[in-house]
This record gives sequence, structure tokens and C-alpha cells, in this order.
Amino acid sequence: MAVITGTGSYAPSRVMTNDEFAAYLDTSDIWIRERTGIRERRIAAPEEATSDLAVSAAGKALDAAGLSASEIDGILLATATPDLLFPSTACLVQARLGADNAFAFDLNAVCSGFVYAMSVAKSMIESKAARRLLVIGSEVMSRTLDWSDRGTCILFGDGAGAVVVEASTTAVRGLETFRLRADGRYWEMIHVPAGGSRRSGTEVAPYIRMKGGETFKMAVRSLQESVMEVLSASGISPGEIDLLVPHQANIRIIDALASRLGLPSDKVVVNIEHYGNTSAASVPVALDEAVRAGRVKEGSRILLTAFGAGVTWGSGLLTWEAETQKRSRA
Ligand code: ACO
Repeated sequence: MAVITGTGSYAPSRVMTNDEFAAYLDTSDIWIRERTGIRERRIAAPEEATSDLAVSAAGKALDAAGLSASEIDGILLATATPDLLFPSTACLVQARLGADNAFAFDLNAVCSGFVYAMSVAKSMIESKAARRLLVIGSEVMSRTLDWSDRGTCILFGDGAGAVVVEASTTAVRGLETFRLRADGRYWEMIHVPAGGSRRSGTEVAPYIRMKGGETFKMAVRSLQESVMEVLSASGISPGEIDLLVPHQANIRIIDALASRLGLPSDKVVVNIEHYGNTSAASVPVALDEAVRAGRVKEGSRILLTAFGAGVTWGSGLLTWEAETQKRSRA
């Protein structure tokens, strides 16, 4: 059985408000708030990269779990904005943390990356390939933005979230059911056209391009289907979910999903107002904030769900049993 025993998150100190966009673009604070739910986002300092954010979030997750970095067997880092093309950002994080007994690799499913990584972590723990894993979602989306494109630049922000996942013999449910999906036929819907092996950044600008309206509709439909798939595989109804932790892409997507599931707002974690869309960091940052705000109790049933470029999507149901696992360590 795999369980989360600690969470952490980090956001760069620079806060960028909607008014800063309105000062140079044909947009407004009111448009951005009403159409997306975003008021502000964090922007990494020039010297900050994805690994820096990840190290800060991971350190807090390790503290919360009561473990040292050398007790970790592996680091799974979900990101679409690595420090370098290679080596992986996970290796840079491993060295900085001093996680000298850990393997390390990156996983790219863009905004769904953290949910994908949690599913991999569950499988690795259950197959006994590892006993203690750090799962991180970290992004510096601001480096992928065309700051003159009002349809995308207002949406994204930078941040990192992390969790420690451990093998447990005392937990009852832990990470229960995960379902992952992808449909690469829609790769163009959200993409960065350069910077990889197809085209260099000197031929084409390496900035996000997105068909916002199509993405919106597909996200709402896919998230609902994915959540229902996980609930039906777990044999529970939406009413039995204690907390929904959705990817924070647009408040209207979250509201549509919550209303289709019949979930009241106190069961849905929303922090998009302060961070915008932080891609793979969005779900673990929201989860960490919910844990630290006391919204997660021992035994809480939590549903993670995300949709992103690829297109990819997926959901996972887990039961919070951190204290049960920590007591069994003593
Ligand atoms: N300010 C003012 N007007 C704007 C802005 C802006 N920032 N952005 C777009 N508009 C305009 C458009 O140009 C358009 O004008 P037109 O009618 O004259 O052509 C009008 O607003 C309506 O545009 P829509 O795209 O239809 O606006 P919509 O209400 O759909 O909102 C948005 C756009 C916010 C991008 C929305 O479509 C959205 O959130 N999409 C989903 C994004 C998402 O889920 N991404 C997840 C994955 S991201 C990843 O994986 C990296």
C-alpha cells in the first residue's frame, strides 16, 4: 500500500497582478478575473529555475514527513519546463537535496504530470521497486510565454509542489485508484513549437500556443469522464469525496466540473486566484495548501484530477493516512 506522508510547496516571491498586463496589453483585470478566476500569479526571479523551486518544495515535504533526503529511494519530477534539455531536472534536485540513495527521473505530461507521476509512484511502491519516493511537480511557465499574446500570457504562473509517498503495511486504502489517458491527435491544441529536436528556438519562437476555446471544452468533458471512471472503479459516489483537488487552469472549468459532480464549494480546493495555471505544480501546490489549512483529516478521501497538453488527462483517488503510517514507523 502506498500513502502520502508529507506535502510541501514553494512559490517565487514576485507577485504579478492583472493590472500589470492591462498596462501594456489590450486586456483588463476584470476580464481576466471573470473569464479565468486569476487575480495574480508568481513569477520566478531571473536566477531561479525549475530545480530551485522543486528543491524548496521537496525540503518542506520531507520535513512534514519527518524524513531526511538520504532516506528517499527515488525522485519523480513532473515538469514541462526543465532546467536543461538534459540531464533531467530530477538529477539536479537529487544532488541539491543530498538524496544520495535515490534514483531520479523527469516525467512530462504537462499539466497532468503530477497525476501521472503519482500513478507511477503507486505502481513502483506496490511492485516493491521503491519504499519511499519524492514526487514533485515544478514549473517555470513564465519562460515559455509570449508576453504579447493576451490569450496565453495572462493564464500561467510559476511554482512547485511535492509529496513524500511511502510504502505502508498499516494504511487501509492509501493511493487507491488511478486512471491515466492521452490523445496525441490533439497535440497542436496546446504546444511549444520549438526548443526540441523538431525545430530550434532560432527558427520559431519557443512560446506556448493554445487554442483556448477548444481546450476549455475538451478539459471539462475529459475531467468529468476521468473522475467518473475512477469513482466507478473504486465503487464510490461523488458524494463520498471529501476533497476534490483539481488542476487550476480556469475557475470556470473547475466550477463546471464541481457542478456536474454535485460537489459543494467547501469540498473543492481552489487557489487559481493567486497562482494562475502552474501546470504540473498546480495539483500538489493546491493539495499542500489544503493540508496546511487543516482541510485534510486522517481518513479523508481525496480526488486529484488534471488535464493538459498532449492532450493528457487523468485522475486519482486516495485516502489520507499520513498519521497512521508515521505512528507505525515509531
Ligand atoms: N483579455 C481580453 N480579451 C481577451 C483575452 C484577454 N486576456 N484573451 C482573449 N481575449 C478575447 C479573444 O481575443 C476573443 O475576442 P474576439 O471575440 O474579438 O475574437 C474573446 O476574448 C473571446 O475569446 P475566447 O478564447 O473565446 O475566450 P474564452 O472565454 O474561451 O477564454 C481562455 C479564453 C481563458 C484562454 C479559456 O479559453 C481557457 O481557459 N481555456 C482553457 C485553458 C486550459 O485549460 N489549459 C489547460 C491546459 S494548459 C497546459 O497544458 C500547458
